[in-house]
Amino acid sequence: IPCCVFKHAQSASEYVAGQIADLIRQRAAEGKPCVLGLATGSTPTTVYAELVRLHREEGLSFAGVHTFNLDEYYPMQPNELQSYVRFMNENLFDHIDIDRANVRIPDGTLAEEDVLAHCANYEQQIEELGGVDIQVLGIGRTGHIGFNEPGSGRDSRTRMITLDKKTRQDASSDFFGEDYVPRRAITMGVGTILESAQIYMLAFGEGKAKVVAEAVEGEVTPIIAASFLQDHPNSIVVLDEAAAARLT
Ligand code: F6R
Repeated sequence: IPCCVFKHAQSASEYVAGQIADLIRQRAAEGKPCVLGLATGSTPTTVYAELVRLHREEGLSFAGVHTFNLDEYYPMQPNELQSYVRFMNENLFDHIDIDRANVRIPDGTLAEEDVLAHCANYEQQIEELGGVDIQVLGIGRTGHIGFNEPGSGRDSRTRMITLDKKTRQDASSDFFGEDYVPRRAITMGVGTILESAQIYMLAFGEGKAKVVAEAVEGEVTPIIAASFLQDHPNSIVVLDEAAAARLT
């Protein structure tokens, strides 16, 4: 997978935001919708901050933009502190001119028997818009993209999953204790993600160096879902120097 290594996360994020902004402007000029796949977590926050800056200072309009978020905890109410709805509002949507009807995030409030149909509908909505143009990803310590934990196959689709113990440990500070981290989540599948036209996987900091090396240079395996990006024709791994430290 081609890797772009930047000195700092800030310049890496500016690069990715710039790529997104270019596509948004291009699609707007063509009069076509622009479809973005978005991640939450600490990694993409600087990308979103730069997109907000481009909106405020350079007139970048999100009027024709549609977004699909990768995942949401289950169960989760949108107003809860840890909800990805709240995260996206606070980091991006509250500060730009996106039409809220064009924003989709997996629904953590559903009754369990309604999740399957919701996931199928999520996939269908992506398809109806012609697929994701640019997908932004982070990577978890388990090698997950979205919440595709070890064991997630190349053909997996949007579905309910059980979170890995490591992932729940990593989320424990957000939830004030591991016991309060939900055990499950709804996530786009590996197969769903791989259908995106262009993928940027971001990783910053030394804590990600080991899993980045495994994903980029290791075997392609369901044990590290991010390794499937090796088979994607247009995926780029965007790193700071610390996260790139273990690449050969
Ligand atoms: C979040 C997501 C996850 C995170 C990953 C890294 O929507 O899909 O795969 O990208 O867990 O999280 P951070 O960026 O907090 O290290």
